[in-house]
Amino acid sequence: MNFHSFPRVVNPIDGEELTGFALCLLAATGGGLLPPAMGMDACMHADPNGPVYYRGWYHLFYQYNPEGAVWGNIAWGHAVSRDLIHWRHLPLAMVPDQWYDINGVWTGSATVLPDGSLVMLYTGSTNASVQVQCLAVPADPNDSLLRNWTKYEANPILVPPPGIGDKDFRDPTTAWFDESDKTWRTVIGSKDNHGHTGIVMTYKTKDFINYELIPGLLHSVPGTGMWECIDFYPVGGADGSEELYVMKESSDDDRHDWYALGRYDAAANKYTPIDAEMDVGIGLRYDWGKFYASKTFYDPSKNRRVLWGWIGETDSERADVAKGWASLQSIPRTVELDEKTRTNLIQWPVIEIETLRINSTDLGGTTIDTGSVLPLPLRRATQLDIEATFHLDASAVASVNEADVGYNCSTSGGAANRGALGPFGLLVLADGALKEQTAVYFYVSRGIDGGLQTHFCQDESRSSLAQDVVKRVVGFTVPVLDGEDLSLRVLVDHSIVETFAMGGRSTATSRVYPTEAIYAAAGVYLFNNATGAAVTVEKLVVHEMDDSYNQIFTADDASAAL
Ligand code: FRU
Repeated sequence: MNFHSFPRVVNPIDGEELTGFALCLLAATGGGLLPPAMGMDACMHADPNGPVYYRGWYHLFYQYNPEGAVWGNIAWGHAVSRDLIHWRHLPLAMVPDQWYDINGVWTGSATVLPDGSLVMLYTGSTNASVQVQCLAVPADPNDSLLRNWTKYEANPILVPPPGIGDKDFRDPTTAWFDESDKTWRTVIGSKDNHGHTGIVMTYKTKDFINYELIPGLLHSVPGTGMWECIDFYPVGGADGSEELYVMKESSDDDRHDWYALGRYDAAANKYTPIDAEMDVGIGLRYDWGKFYASKTFYDPSKNRRVLWGWIGETDSERADVAKGWASLQSIPRTVELDEKTRTNLIQWPVIEIETLRINSTDLGGTTIDTGSVLPLPLRRATQLDIEATFHLDASAVASVNEADVGYNCSTSGGAANRGALGPFGLLVLADGALKEQTAVYFYVSRGIDGGLQTHFCQDESRSSLAQDVVKRVVGFTVPVLDGEDLSLRVLVDHSIVETFAMGGRSTATSRVYPTEAIYAAAGVYLFNNATGAAVTVEKLVVHEMDDSYNQIFTADDASAAL
């Protein structure tokens, strides 16, 4: 078992459970907790949809194919939780059963109205494969589990406007209220200019039934292609600091989630990034690894914004069909403005994940010499929450003159490529012979101007002996302020590595497929492949993580919960 939200996934190699969050058990089958290996229908799931906190329950809906391990027949799966960690599966929330969504109940978002009621906007793919927007509401608002949904009788409520392609109009956001004209606003992504420019259109509505397209575009960025799954929300603003807006698009061209920080002028319907060079689609990503079609929601119970992302598979579709399932969801992350830099967000695993910590080992205070690899004495290394802080001695750094300007995580040779000040960090899901390992590390380079630049990278290239798996080196530069040590938090869950660098300024998620580094054979190592400096590990605490659990929510559970 595992601690990713809805686990129960079977290792195709030895038939044992390996990883997180396979929602193959579903609802559609009428219940019974059967792992996929026990003859369940194959399934896949994708985008998180309509996350919301409603009457004491967290709800996660998601794109789901109950009929196969590849994309298709898209319905809305549904799970609920009290704490964002322990989840229970409910019956499918919506299925493709109307002319306007018969080709798929696609991605959508929830909006909570001031009276506490809920509306859901989603994209339907019609019988002619036209993308239209649809409205659904809870059939029984008193059912805190939101088990049944009523699609509005006059759906669709929006069709592609003139100039927008029938297949380029999808994924309405959570709506927000505009005091100036007392209307709700929702935005929808698309593309323009022969498909090269990603664009966002804004609609206003008083009743969620009738909409008006606000002239002009909220935002557009040339060269970024179709923008899916837009997310748009305020961050910061506490203690008199200026509030900024996050705009996020999921780029259909490169399948990454890109965001920018900017200013929103509601009256002019204009979004302007604070830094034009870090605009949406060309600057920052939520995650440098496998993480797509994400969505946030505001959690009023803890006054925080929480982010979910879809972690797709990086093995082949053939392998997914063979194992009978595909994809999982990230550990939910709080997301907020980094008030120290104001150039980036901070993402951090929700605090509730810490309730799964059992058995913590403190291994801080070690020095890793240049060119060394140190095994950590752990009882178990398949499910971990690792907190590490690395310190580079200032005089060692000062003595390094190497100009290393062109360093790039993805193209500079990964963890094996030695430089003066890196790479150093951790090898996780590593076997004793280090034939399999996922390297999580920093590489500090000195530019020609003498300044230091810190790269945070994750090297999947040795993560599995299995063939037919995409293995990359991912990562990017991460801001480090004067006097800050370099920190990593790594969540390891059998075959998922989610890393948060510098307190969450940058993140990388890898889906890996170890064949040797499994169960008792999996280990963790410190390594320092730098040639110019020893690294002090100021802090190293390794928490063993408990399993989460997953179960079908029975009718009895449901009535007990009400
Ligand atoms: C993103 C996406 C959305 C669409 C949905 C269909 O992964 O392509 O744009 O609504 O998936 O499943």
